[in-house]
Amino acid sequence: MALRNILRDGEKSLLKTSRAVTDYNARLHQLIDDMRETLIEAEGLGLAAPQVGVLRRVVIVVDTSREGTVEDQMIELVNPEIIARSGEQVGHEGCLSVPEVYGIVERPQLVKIRAFDRNGEMFEIYGEGLTARAFCHEIDHLNGVLFTSLATRFLTADELEELRKTERP
Ligand code: CO
Repeated sequence: MALRNILRDGEKSLLKTSRAVTDYNARLHQLIDDMRETLIEAEGLGLAAPQVGVLRRVVIVVDTSREGTVEDQMIELVNPEIIARSGEQVGHEGCLSVPEVYGIVERPQLVKIRAFDRNGEMFEIYGEGLTARAFCHEIDHLNGVLFTSLATRFLTADELEELRKTERP
């Protein structure tokens, strides 16, 4: 495994649409393993392949409502699609590619995702609350969309300070 460099806002590839994965091969497994390691190192809640410069439809989301370590909480999604959504939540959101910036973004409260695992097996999964937000945020990356283009406003310095005291970004 190897750490990959996380691209920062301003890199054009963050605004591009990623292509579907067609081969569930060793190269894909390497990418996913590297993304896992990179995400743990960065202490984020999610990472999309285009953030490490690979324009393929692969994301990892950390579901903090699950038991266990961060490794246990990671959900690997290949070619994910949101197939149902309901409710709404309004809250803050950040991104490893846009450090130190948090914005208020409206998202569905509940989403149902259809995706493939690293071996090409299809599965469906629900995400609620923070996890629903993470699914939406990461899948947006695959379509070249950053949360900064969806935010209704950005947190102030005071609000950021409060946030730092209460939670991991
Ligand atoms: Co992001």
